[in-house]
Amino acid sequence: MNFTCQTTYALSTVTSNTGKPARFLRRIEGAHITGSLVRRQVFHMDITFLLNGESVEVRDASPTVTLLDWLREERGLTGTKEGCNEGDCGACTVMVTDARGSRGLNACILFLPQIEGCAVRTVEGISSPDGDLHPVQEEMIAHHGSQCGFCTPGMVMSAAALLKENPNPTEHEVRVYLEGNLCRCTGYHNIVKAILAAAGAQGEKIAAE
Ligand code: FES
Ligand code: FES
Repeated sequence: MNFTCQTTYALSTVTSNTGKPARFLRRIEGAHITGSLVRRQVFHMDITFLLNGESVEVRDASPTVTLLDWLREERGLTGTKEGCNEGDCGACTVMVTDARGSRGLNACILFLPQIEGCAVRTVEGISSPDGDLHPVQEEMIAHHGSQCGFCTPGMVMSAAALLKENPNPTEHEVRVYLEGNLCRCTGYHNIVKAILAAAGAQGEKIAAE
């Protein structure tokens, strides 16, 4: 992980107690800037992570690019949806795995450098190598867990992350895990049924992968 430089500063000139001009660097954010010179310096990082099983290196990753924007705009992985873009709806959920395990996280509030060293799976990357759908996807179809479909990739990724860590969740645990995923169409009932159907024996298989 290579850090370069961060923070925006203004070089300001004031009159000191001695009556002589004094110059100092002042952070721009929230500061009253009277100086003549403004320098802009931004952190850039080289990061490496796994994306759908493939090692990816991003050089000079900007600290202000979200994982969601990068996935959609740089990689064309538009299965990860943009809804609220502020961490409330779950449409952008991806599965992130690190030493602590797997979690469904909102890609719209994850900055790219934060996934250094992690494994990221998007909805495009959860089918089996021979193309079979993930059990959660199969059961979402079988139980009519999708209507307009906008929330579905996020729901699927949250459910996949849940079953990876807890192959036999109770209905209550499923509902709690889905709290961050909003659906305006289905009423959640069929989504929960689908996830419970994908649990059990299939869940054990998912957890072992
Ligand atoms: S788009 Fe990320 S939580 Fe809504
Ligand atoms: S199926 Fe339409 S928002 Fe969930």
